[in-house]
Amino acid sequence: MQSANKKSTNFQIRTNANSFVHEVLELDVKEISDIQFDQLERSFDHGGVLFMRNQDLQTADLVAFSRRFGELEGHVRHEYAMPGYPEVHVLSNIKKGNKTIGSAYAGDDWHLDLCFMREPARMAILYAIEIPHDDDGNALGDTLFASGSDAYDTLDNDLRDRLENKKCLMQYNRRQEEKRLQRLHDHPRPPMTDEQKAKTPDIWQPIFRTHPNTGRKAIYANKVNTFRIEGMSEEESLPIIRSLQKHVTKPENVYRHKWQVGDLLMWDNASAHHMAIGDYKLPQRRKLIRTSIKGGPVF
Ligand SMILES: [Fe+2]
Repeated sequence: MQSANKKSTNFQIRTNANSFVHEVLELDVKEISDIQFDQLERSFDHGGVLFMRNQDLQTADLVAFSRRFGELEGHVRHEYAMPGYPEVHVLSNIKKGNKTIGSAYAGDDWHLDLCFMREPARMAILYAIEIPHDDDGNALGDTLFASGSDAYDTLDNDLRDRLENKKCLMQYNRRQEEKRLQRLHDHPRPPMTDEQKAKTPDIWQPIFRTHPNTGRKAIYANKVNTFRIEGMSEEESLPIIRSLQKHVTKPENVYRHKWQVGDLLMWDNASAHHMAIGDYKLPQRRKLIRTSIKGGPVF
């Protein structure tokens, strides 16, 4: 962490060594005022990842805080919703009987959430309830983040000009099926139903997305969900998509979040590429709950 601290109304926002990551200190989100919230939201919009430690939240508190950012939406995989809270998605490897209580080892390669939807969620908010550790007490199951906006700003000019205003094909159903077939057999995922598939048809989205609040552009094509670039075959497209992803996730641009119980972390779906590290397994238990806030059309 750098020492670029900025004193604000009763709480502090610290900029991480990766400038897109902000840590909020001395704030209990259950007691956040309107002025504090405005400041928090601005800081979030101008970074892409924002977190705070040591929160003590019930599911209803997470829902109430999340609603301040906008209307919530449930995940298409509604079988992993928290009982009684359809808009809260459970990420967990914990089992009840034969069934995993949440989505296990989700997002294990670089992606942006819901980029395959016509109006993807604006952001996601995760709250850590159980975090796995190794025998020495080191946290496992870190999450990596990288800024698609910073990557756009530093992209090779020729490549940027070549791809500017072009679209790319996002294929969620294809990815889900490939993933399902490769998945570890201790956490099998049911195949998507026809009803679920119908909600996520293939879709053309901009390769570079504009942030609705700041106007900054970000690389939106990503390794997990993008299979083709407008005007090119899949064969021609894939190496370009891979090189864009490589640029976004250069090691020096990656922030690695080491989770602690009580962490509340949010990321911006217009810019924050991320990936989960699946370096744990039962009996090492992991449980986080997540809300998603509705977004608008991508442009
Ligand atoms: Fe994700």
